[in-house]
Amino acid sequence: METFQYYNPTRLIFGKDTVTALKDEVPKYGKRVLLVYGGGSIKRNGLYDRVIEQLNTIDAEVFELPGVEPNPRLTMVEKGAALCREHKIEFLLAVGGGSTIDCTKAIAVAALHEGDFWQDVIIKHEAPKAALPLGTILTLAATGSEMNSGSVITNWETQEKYGWGTPLVYPKFSILDPENTFSVPKDQTINGMVDMMAHVFEHYFHISPNAPLQERLCESVLQTVIETAPKLVNDLHNFQLRETILFSGTMALNGMINMGIRGDWATHNLEHAVSAVYDIPHGGGLAILFPNWMKHVMDEKLDRVKQLAIRVWNVDPTGKSDREVALEGIERLRQFWTELGAPARLANYEIDDSQLDLLVEKAMAFGPFGRFKVLNHDDVAAIYRASL
Ligand code: NZQ
Ligand code: ZN
Repeated sequence: METFQYYNPTRLIFGKDTVTALKDEVPKYGKRVLLVYGGGSIKRNGLYDRVIEQLNTIDAEVFELPGVEPNPRLTMVEKGAALCREHKIEFLLAVGGGSTIDCTKAIAVAALHEGDFWQDVIIKHEAPKAALPLGTILTLAATGSEMNSGSVITNWETQEKYGWGTPLVYPKFSILDPENTFSVPKDQTINGMVDMMAHVFEHYFHISPNAPLQERLCESVLQTVIETAPKLVNDLHNFQLRETILFSGTMALNGMINMGIRGDWATHNLEHAVSAVYDIPHGGGLAILFPNWMKHVMDEKLDRVKQLAIRVWNVDPTGKSDREVALEGIERLRQFWTELGAPARLANYEIDDSQLDLLVEKAMAFGPFGRFKVLNHDDVAAIYRASL
């Protein structure tokens, strides 16, 4: 293992009707609240009214930032930061999916940042000095943003989408009620499950010595999602299935299953470049790219890919070479995601090779990347080409 420290200060409030915890949590941080949400799903499913009801019981002064887009934009971050300064906001409450939460994290820092938030924090990786406190009510099981310190923001003008993070933006609390995810449409439910599996793969294809427990923990999360996902897509209002997936998404990226290991993260970088240029859903992009990345890099550490095939996909290794076993595992993953309803080719999003060079350039913006195998220009081009 690597030397490590584990730190996660987010209070996780999980289960039915937990929205009532707002009245205990919010006053700890202030009463001037900026409520941040997306394109209206929380109004349609009634969550907005329940949140306002709770905030009214504590006499909060509520300001609103609606309309956060999927793949949240820098323009929305700037709008939110200006609102915070204008209204002397004390606390940010994100109600939505990963995009709303990520945007809120960026607002929390940008509101107090002197200088250019995009250039300083996202491009130059300067450590922010301060952030407003934030809490979340998660409505879509996917990113893990509800219990981590990361955020991903898109600059649509420059077609750039990058992750950044600071411990300052760990949510103070996150409220996760499976019922709040009942209304997530089937395609977004699938994208979310692909994303959480992808997070586990990013850990699993690590480069650290001696991590048997971490690998088993990863396999457990994968097996749980694999068992649950096909049932959930046919039963979207099933509380227990939603509950299992919601918890899996958080566990996949809250730092618990990957303590002491250095994951790969190349496929996320590849996907963010595609989203930056074509604005496709993150989970959809990952479903297309991950199996192709695995095929491209499998020979680096064939044992790991073989282990995944045997332990998670139940591939019978009898009479097969290590490579055949590994390839069969990758094929089962592709088949699993396709049967679930996830896309398998960039063509599913009407993406052809016309902007392939641009995609490669975007992905390579900070130089070669990935750890399981360091990807250079030709590797990246080959993976995109295989994904067309
Ligand atoms: O905007 P609304 O109207 O709320 O609709 C959203 C949106 O259209 C809808 N939705 C969310 N909850 C719903 C619902 N519809 C009905 N009922 C509900 N309960 O779903 C659509 C997608 O929402 P979004 O927040 O974009 O999805 P997701 O949670 O998958 O977030 C994706 C973003 O997170 C980033 C991705 O790159 C992408 O920008 N990521 C963030 C990470 C992190 N901070 O740790 C890690 C991830 O790897 C990922 O990169
Ligand atoms: Zn992801």
